[in-house]
Amino acid sequence: MTIAIEVHLDGDAAAKMARDVREGLCAYPKEVAPKYFYDERGSLLFERITELPEYYPTRAEREILTTRSAAIHAAAGCPETLVELGSGSAAKTRHLLSAMRDCGSLDTYVPVDISEEITERTASELVDEYPGLKVHGMVCDFEQHLERVPHGSGTRMIAFLGGTIGNLYPRERHAFLERIRALLGPGDHLLLGTDLIKDKARLEAAYDDDAGVTAEFNKNVLAVLNDQLGADFDLDAFEHVARYDTEAERMDIRLRSRADQDVRVDGLDLEIHFADGEEMRTEISTKFTRERIAAAYDGAGLELRGWFTDAAGDYALSLAAPAG
Ligand code: SAH
Ligand code: AVI
Repeated sequence: MTIAIEVHLDGDAAAKMARDVREGLCAYPKEVAPKYFYDERGSLLFERITELPEYYPTRAEREILTTRSAAIHAAAGCPETLVELGSGSAAKTRHLLSAMRDCGSLDTYVPVDISEEITERTASELVDEYPGLKVHGMVCDFEQHLERVPHGSGTRMIAFLGGTIGNLYPRERHAFLERIRALLGPGDHLLLGTDLIKDKARLEAAYDDDAGVTAEFNKNVLAVLNDQLGADFDLDAFEHVARYDTEAERMDIRLRSRADQDVRVDGLDLEIHFADGEEMRTEISTKFTRERIAAAYDGAGLELRGWFTDAAGDYALSLAAPAG
């Protein structure tokens, strides 16, 4: 059994968070990046979201991975290493790891996530579940430290599941795909999970569930700012807003101030005013078509090599490799 976790959430990460949050709170409109949702509580709330009746993406991706993992693994040339960006609890990843084990290629799993607690828990569960598996995890911001992600051995598949790429803005997404392209050696592949465009009512329900879990997840970013930057946000003074922007083809998730209020952020020595009804964006979640994904790959020097959807056509996993 081998397990190694590198943690790159050092003073630099704290300083970066302070810079990002200051910039976002001082901008108009105000904005906080979704990567700051995921402290331990945020990760647990996301796990609860994945079980909600309205939140179909996880179930759809699980359906594809349950039924097609062997085919995906074969189409990727039976790699020895699985690198997973934003791995979280890696619940669905087990299907891919099992396919790799069953065909005898499984050697190393590299989970990469900003949330330390969940990465450590996932790594220790996996070494127990897959005897002989080497787990070399990394706790970091994958946008900052992508090039430092451990290589593993042999050929590899870099998986970016859950639709997390949809949380990046187009320019960030393009730069990220180019950087992934640069990491891919001969025989390596990218496996990308993306939610697909569908009915607006279904999309909005998926991000505004009846039980209020997504609202709690959204407000958790304020709790993170309270904990980590000494802010005094009153979570009850904000409400969850989730709208589908048909033109930009993405969910637009915000927190709306329920009153005229001032918030103090001690760690930034900052006082911020929120007007009654003012909205602060906390996340976008972009929805795709096959054409849009193929075009995004094309623009980043990648080529679409495989396309796998659930039976309802709600969600896609695509396989890509360097073009040419
Ligand atoms: N892949 C899992 C989890 C998706 S939730 C699934 O499909 O269910 C998004 C995950 O990405 C969370 O675990 C979060 O901690 C991680 N994450 C988000 N932004 C990140 C960043 N910039 N760097 C590293 N991890 C990030
Ligand atoms: C992690 N990410 C892909 C989720 C999504 O669907 O965009 C995060 C999420 N936000 C609200 N619900 C789920």
